[in-house]
Amino acid sequence: MYTIDWIDGAVVLVDQTRLPAEEVYLRLETVDALVEAIQRLRVRGAPAIGVAGALGVALAAKQFERAEERAQAVQTLALARPTAVNLARGVHRVAALLPSFDAVLAEALRVRDEEIASSKGMARLGADLVERLCGPNPTLLTHCNTGGLATVVDGTALAVVFELHRRGALGGVVASETRPLLQGARLTTWELRNRGIPHRLAVDSAGPFLMARGQVDAVILGADRICANGDVVNKIGSYAHALGARAAGIPFICVAPESTVDLGTASGADVEIEDRGSEEVAGTTAPAGTEAINPAFDVTPAELVTAVVTDKRTFSGRADGPSL
Ligand code: MRU
Repeated sequence: MYTIDWIDGAVVLVDQTRLPAEEVYLRLETVDALVEAIQRLRVRGAPAIGVAGALGVALAAKQFERAEERAQAVQTLALARPTAVNLARGVHRVAALLPSFDAVLAEALRVRDEEIASSKGMARLGADLVERLCGPNPTLLTHCNTGGLATVVDGTALAVVFELHRRGALGGVVASETRPLLQGARLTTWELRNRGIPHRLAVDSAGPFLMARGQVDAVILGADRICANGDVVNKIGSYAHALGARAAGIPFICVAPESTVDLGTASGADVEIEDRGSEEVAGTTAPAGTEAINPAFDVTPAELVTAVVTDKRTFSGRADGPSL
């Protein structure tokens, strides 16, 4: 079962807010229900929401007869979350084929299938790179969740981890919790456990210290957008790990499909960073009424990124530069 798919006329996805306690699949038949799922992070991760957006246009084609209603649905889907380029890209690619439901669905399924193929390419190229940079059996720190749950199956950075494990070339994994929604603690540990991969969980702020102590050999994580200058926009906390990696002199590797590379955005300064409001951070822990600042993503400047691995190439610096 894929993380997200089109089954019998509806979008079916695993509700990630209920993991790891329960594995519940939702059947979504309306654009509104899908937008709610994207905004509540029932489906999340840049490639997965790209597929969600694409399949959402198929829902719109089915649900609405009038062109204005469809256009409104397309707009709502594209804007459901602002930071990962995959969402708006997936929506607009497929929406170009409206009003034909058959053409829209076929293109949306192509988006899904391309992401499945991409994961395989990233796994191979990323594992080759880690073996080259780190030698045998490294311990890798990863942040957020970049596994099958963030894509359709297998993942981005975590697909590299799975491939290294398959090759017998992985020491272990440190999963960074990923405050405030705990994608690392809830989802990455769940995926690693399901695959029998040795791992330990760490609070986000332990990352740079573990690197300084020599307990981590490289950082490997995903991206929500890779800008033309090579800046990496990813889950909040990534930048701190990059600074830690630079201070410790270890590689900082970003793994993302070509669908996350955005040559139309010059640098991270041009990216809208989603702020998810006070409640997720202040919640029940701070005194009532405490206001939080809650950027969901940050920008790691290109000069802190050792290499970006996509499904097709490995590069360092500008995203339109040569492959390594
Ligand atoms: O807010 P999320 O959980 O959707 O954020 C996801 C991330 O930041 C991932 O690291 C990124 O999308 C890469 S996943 C393949």
